[in-house]
Amino acid sequence: MKVGVIGAGGVSRFHLAGYAAAGAQVVAIADAHAETLERVQAQWRVPRGYADFHALCADPEIEAVSVCLPNALHHPATIAAARAGKHVLCEKPVSMSLSEAHDMIRACREAGVVLQVGHHLRSNPAAEKARQLIESGELGRVTFVRLRQAHDWGGQEPRASFRTLASAGGGTLLDNGSHMMDLARYFGGPVREVFARMATLGYDVEVEDTSVVTLEFASGALGSVENAWTATGWEEAFWVYGTRGALEYTNRLGRPTMRHVFRSSPGTDWNEQDVATYQFAGLEPHSRNVLEFLEAVRGERRVICSGEDGLEAVRLILASYRSARERRPVEVSEVT
Ligand SMILES: NC(=O)c1ccc[n+]([C@@H]2O[C@H](COP(=O)([O-])OP(=O)(O)OC[C@H]3O[C@@H](n4cnc5c(N)ncnc54)[C@H](O)[C@@H]3O)[C@@H](O)[C@H]2O)c1
Repeated sequence: MKVGVIGAGGVSRFHLAGYAAAGAQVVAIADAHAETLERVQAQWRVPRGYADFHALCADPEIEAVSVCLPNALHHPATIAAARAGKHVLCEKPVSMSLSEAHDMIRACREAGVVLQVGHHLRSNPAAEKARQLIESGELGRVTFVRLRQAHDWGGQEPRASFRTLASAGGGTLLDNGSHMMDLARYFGGPVREVFARMATLGYDVEVEDTSVVTLEFASGALGSVENAWTATGWEEAFWVYGTRGALEYTNRLGRPTMRHVFRSSPGTDWNEQDVATYQFAGLEPHSRNVLEFLEAVRGERRVICSGEDGLEAVRLILASYRSARERRPVEVSEVT
C-alpha cells in the first residue's frame, strides 16, 4: 500500500516506523516547515515532499494518510484527505470540538474511507489483555478504573504547538487525558459524570500542565484520570479493580509489567494473593496501531478506535474542562 504522512514533527516517526514495519511504502510527507520536511524525508527516504497538505491529498498514488498535525489542524486535513478518497489515521485528540469531530466522521463516511483515531494505547498489548480479562468475566464486575499518563517532556520544555490554546486546545488534560478517557471507556464502558481539577504549575504555558478527574461510570463504577507534564520521567499506568480480581499495569522505571491479582488458592490472606505477571514482546503500540489501521483499510478487521470513539473521548475532556472551570461535577450528557 502507498501512504502519505501529513506533519513531520514529534509523533510522525512512530507512524513512519509503523508503516515500515507493515511493509507499506510512504511515498510522500507534508510539512509547512521546510527544514523539518527535508530532514524527515531524507531520514526515511521518502520520495516526495509537500509544503501544503492539500497537495499531498491530491497525490493520486496515495491510498491512505496519517494526520500528524497540531490538534487545530486535524479537522481541515482529515476533511481534505477524505474528500480526495484517502483513508485516514488521525492523531488524537480527534478534534478540539464535537462539531469538528462530527464533520470529520461525516466526511469519511460519505467518501467511503476508514477513519481511525490514534488512541494507540488500545494497541498496547497490556490494554488488550486487560480488556480480554474484563470481557471474559475473569475480573468479575468492574468497580474502579484508575488511569495515569504523566511525563516531563523528557526534561525539556513543551513543544511549541502544545503551549497555546489556539494550536492545542488544551494542555495535559486534552493531550494525555484524551488517551486516558478513551481507555476509561474501553475498560469501564460509558461515563456518566466527571469532576475535574487542573492547574498550571511547572511551565510558562497558556494551558494546564497538571490535572485530575474523578469519573462515575454509567455502571456505577468509579474511577480517576491523572495527567501531568510535571512528573519527573515518564509513566503510563492503569489499575482496574473488579469483584473477583485486580489489574495493575505500569511502565515506570523498568520493563512494562501488568499484574493480575486474584484469590483462588485456599488460605490466602491480607498479605498473600495469587498473582499472574504479564510482560509483552514485539512491536511497540504505535506501530501496532498503524498495522491495525492498514488491516482495517484492507477490510480484515474492525477499526480499533473509530471517529465516534475519538469523539466520545473529546466529549469527556470537554465535560472535564467545564467541571474544572465551574468547580462542580458535570454530567457528560450536558456536553452536546
Ligand atoms: N498518540 C500519541 O501518543 C501522540 C504523541 C505525540 C503527539 N500526538 C499528537 O500528534 C499531533 C502532532 O503532534 P507532534 O508532537 O508531532 O507535534 P509537533 O509540533 O512536533 O509537529 C507538528 C508538525 O506539523 C507541522 N505543521 C504545522 N502546521 C502545518 C500546516 N499547516 N501544514 C503542514 N504542516 C504543518 C509543523 O511544522 C510540525 O513539524 C498532535 O495532535 C498530538 O496530540 C500523539
